[in-house]
Amino acid sequence: MRRKMIAGNWKMNNNQAASRDFVEKLESWFANEPTGTKAASVAASGKIEVVIAPPFTSIEAVRAAKKSGIIQIAAQNVHHESKGAFTGEVSLPMLEEAGCKYAIIGHSERRHVFHEPDEALEKKLIATLESNVLPIFCVGELLEERTAGNAEKVLARQLESAWTSLTSDIVGEMLVVAYEPVWAIGTGQTASNGDAERACDFIRTLAYEKFGIAASESLRILYGGSVKPDNSASLLSQSDIDGLLIGGASLEVESFEKIIETSV
Ligand code: 13P
Repeated sequence: MRRKMIAGNWKMNNNQAASRDFVEKLESWFANEPTGTKAASVAASGKIEVVIAPPFTSIEAVRAAKKSGIIQIAAQNVHHESKGAFTGEVSLPMLEEAGCKYAIIGHSERRHVFHEPDEALEKKLIATLESNVLPIFCVGELLEERTAGNAEKVLARQLESAWTSLTSDIVGEMLVVAYEPVWAIGTGQTASNGDAERACDFIRTLAYEKFGIAASESLRILYGGSVKPDNSASLLSQSDIDGLLIGGASLEVESFEKIIETSV
């Protein structure tokens, strides 16, 4: 059984004080509220994982405020080199030292706002897999690519350009893929359950063809794009969706809690 992941990507939101406040409230919910204690015990049993991706400067605030061991931290980006003259970048050893378990790679805003090409994302993925940080590798098509009937072609290109040199063991045990159709991000236009499931099934089939049944069956695939408390349960009930990558609705602790609630 694949462990579900509920991950909040805060993007460039939540300074240190807001991050501390959020995590303290979430920890208090896990410890005191009946719905929260249920979620905490499901998390302790290993069935779900709760992840927060704060901005770099708030990572320490999240690390210091999380007490129960339920919350894991993800970085929103990485650089593939471990040190050197790369102004503005943060390395994997630095992220590991800061307490990150995961790093998001290839988020659509990195691809389309900051123009990170497939080749750079392959380097980031490989470097992450060689470190002690685990990758959450994002893929997803633009609206015009979908309208032109090229959505699957785009997903295949994004994955194949990144995972060519990986082994079945690594894909099965270490990789998390997040399907985030760009047209659904921050737009309120969530993919239908059927569309989201078809894309995640397509990704799993690609993994099966390249890495075999065991790797494809244990690969975790998340959906992201306008996830809200009122659509999270139905998305999570799809057989190939193993979790959610949440932007806007992860900024309010109550809505993040409600989404966690729908996963247990
Ligand atoms: P929204 O949930 O705000 O659409 O953002 C999704 C996302 O980009 C998460 O990484």
